[in-house]
Amino acid sequence: MADQARVRKFFFLHMRPNRLPVATLRFTHTFGLGGMSAVLVILLILTGALMMLAYEPTPDRAHDSILGLQTETLFGPLIRGLHYWSANLLIAVALLHLLRVFFTGAKDGPRKLNWVIGLTMLACVLASNFTGYLLPWDQLSYWAVTICTGMLGYVPGVGGWLQEAARGGRDVGPTTLIIFYTLHTTVVPVALALLMGFHFWRVRKARGVVVPRQAGTPVPADPEFTRGWPDLILRELVVGTVLVAVVMMLAIFFAPELGTPANPGMSPNPAKAPWYFVGFQELQIHFHPMFAILVIPLVAVAGLIWWPYRRREVDQTGVLFGSGAGRRTAGIAALLGLIATPLLIIADEMWLQTTTWAPSVISHGLLPFLILAVAVVGFRMILRKQLNATREDADQAVFVLMGVAFAVLTITGVWFRGAGMALVWPW
Ligand code: HEM
Repeated sequence: MADQARVRKFFFLHMRPNRLPVATLRFTHTFGLGGMSAVLVILLILTGALMMLAYEPTPDRAHDSILGLQTETLFGPLIRGLHYWSANLLIAVALLHLLRVFFTGAKDGPRKLNWVIGLTMLACVLASNFTGYLLPWDQLSYWAVTICTGMLGYVPGVGGWLQEAARGGRDVGPTTLIIFYTLHTTVVPVALALLMGFHFWRVRKARGVVVPRQAGTPVPADPEFTRGWPDLILRELVVGTVLVAVVMMLAIFFAPELGTPANPGMSPNPAKAPWYFVGFQELQIHFHPMFAILVIPLVAVAGLIWWPYRRREVDQTGVLFGSGAGRRTAGIAALLGLIATPLLIIADEMWLQTTTWAPSVISHGLLPFLILAVAVVGFRMILRKQLNATREDADQAVFVLMGVAFAVLTITGVWFRGAGMALVWPW
């Protein structure tokens, strides 16, 4: 009773469940990744609000105001560092949280809608990072935003309009900075905060996180329960404190850089997108831009949204990797992605890109896209026929293959591209 009263009294405790299944407490079930994302969002809002006191969103003042924050403001470098690292870690942690949810079968059944809300939150996190990227107004940020907004121009029909709408004019300039600043400091955080409330409420509605179970065992009808306070909340406080300490260390020992002020007349070489969009930039090297920035991302996003709504053969809710066979097929897919993607990148770089027998949208767009789609369908059929994989395990393997391929594209873009975006050996 005393615990219940305590929970009722404190707002924070009220947001957490009173009771929860014991099995969901195990750290390696969730790795606390959802909670960590929430802590990072809170850190971002706090440090962002403080930085708003110093920042001036005009091309003349933006760079200088960040410089002033770094050199003349008490704790300025620490606050900027905390904001920078929280933002970058949030992308990584939210992606890992997505993978955890996916591989523990926590996206199906009553959690379908929360999966879609989560995807929308991920889009907000990316939008938040991207709009913040421009604000220091240095060479890196100016040209990265020029490249990314330039990609919008390739959308057929409305590309020019989209690009101008994002930039607020023909080029990246004062209006772009105001648009990005407003999105970054108001629109996106408000949307993210509202979605977070909804997300947490849906977790409560589904009676907490998914209960883990072994393949072949039924969904536990009456699992053993324990109290939210202190069993869950103390654990969450420990994870949150360790996370804040890690972000502090990163902010202190690896302070974010501030490059030379933006110079619209001189592009750095290579000019790269921020790391989380470099995978798309890399795709654009291999595919016609319409496929790299429109068709492939649209197919991927539609697939992710549709995933929990597809027809299911077996209920794998709560079963890690679906089954023993699921783990094996996921491993095969990961290996295939790791080997095939670099080989395809090199083959394209050395031979295929020079092909000019047809319009580029066919030779570098439709045709390679169809060939790869057929290869993926073939891979899925082999898993189904030769390895007797269930529909769920085969779908999971396709997800792994795509995820690993995109990760390899991102790594290639970040570390293995040099001047002129040519392939280089970084060491
Ligand atoms: C800012 C980003 C996010 C925050 C703050 C957040 C927060 C949380 C928290 C605290 C939980 C419960 C504890 C846990 O699972 O660790 C949770 C569960 C969940 N999240 Fe997220 N999340 C975010 C992004 C996402 C994304 C990107 C997805 C997937 C597309 C997602 C899908 C889900 C689902 C389906 C659950 C229920 C999991 C279960 O029942 O086991 N979330 N989230």
